[in-house]
Amino acid sequence: MLPIDLSGKRAFVAGVADDGGFGFAIAKALAVAGASVCVGTWPPALGIFETLLRRGKLDASLRMPDGSKFELEKIYALDAEYDSLLDAPEELRAQKRYRDRGDFSIDGVVENLREDFGDPCLDIVVHSLANGPEVNKPLMQTSRKGYLAAHGASAYSFVSLAQRLQPLMRERGAFLGLSYLASRGVVADYGGGMASAKAALEADARMLALELGRGWGHRVNVISAGPYASRAASAIGFIHKMIKYYQMNAPLPDALRADEVGNAAAFLCSPLASGITGTVLYVDKGYHAMAAPADVGGLIDALSGSED
Ligand SMILES: NC(=O)c1ccc[n+]([C@@H]2O[C@H](COP(=O)([O-])OP(=O)(O)OC[C@H]3O[C@@H](n4cnc5c(N)ncnc54)[C@H](O)[C@@H]3O)[C@@H](O)[C@H]2O)c1
Repeated sequence: MLPIDLSGKRAFVAGVADDGGFGFAIAKALAVAGASVCVGTWPPALGIFETLLRRGKLDASLRMPDGSKFELEKIYALDAEYDSLLDAPEELRAQKRYRDRGDFSIDGVVENLREDFGDPCLDIVVHSLANGPEVNKPLMQTSRKGYLAAHGASAYSFVSLAQRLQPLMRERGAFLGLSYLASRGVVADYGGGMASAKAALEADARMLALELGRGWGHRVNVISAGPYASRAASAIGFIHKMIKYYQMNAPLPDALRADEVGNAAAFLCSPLASGITGTVLYVDKGYHAMAAPADVGGLIDALSGSED
């Protein structure tokens, strides 16, 4: 047996607000491997997440393979657009969903983690969040404000988390970000600057791999995931068409499951991946390897024995 063993380790997963996305699947996989897991949740989604948890609506998803319940160690309010509370506009801080949440900035989460668990207290940091207010707009119609907001929330937030959480990391820590193939090839309709935000995230992960590796011995990797109908992806609008397209054209024709991303994340964050840093791992049923649709010349029919 070659186990993924994360017992004694603590993870912080930023970007969990329900059981329907990659953040939750990653958090659960890390817990199944033995880690204790804290999450960071966007304030506008935090109240609903707490209610779902309290009412037992997520109990089926929280069931662990041994029958026990996955208990999140702590849920922190986090708006990753803000490095410190002073960066957040006054009107935002006064909003109902923000005003009673304490310091929801990245600095705030760092201070809360330090207070709750001491210093150092972390082994794994996962960035599983993105936001592009103009994602539905073509780049030709994207405003400077929308473009920079996409980059701030989806790419710089990873850099900021790395900068600010590094002092809390124990030896041989692991950082992980989530990307999408639009970083290196055109995915029509993934607009608003989100494609370049993902490209920035991947480039930054490589730089951070060098800086955090040489500086502190930590590793930094990215998973580029295939399409999955999470809440965020469903809001973009064409996710079901994309899933179907991948099923028709990827080497593996079954739809991607979130736990497949979770398992890959647990591996990358584990000592089994001690030699892997600065990499983008595609967890997309192999679609990234394709340069043309799968069925152009009848190969697929021939393989399935349906050719005349
Ligand atoms: N679903 C897909 O098809 C797909 C494919 C490739 C990559 N990804 C990436 O996976 C990651 C997770 O997304 P998902 O699809 O699982 O959706 P998701 O809805 O589960 O996760 C996105 C999370 O980001 C949070 N968020 C948004 N803005 C935030 C902010 N300013 N501060 C803190 N949190 C914020 C949301 O509340 C949500 O919990 C993202 O980086 C996404 O781009 C998704």
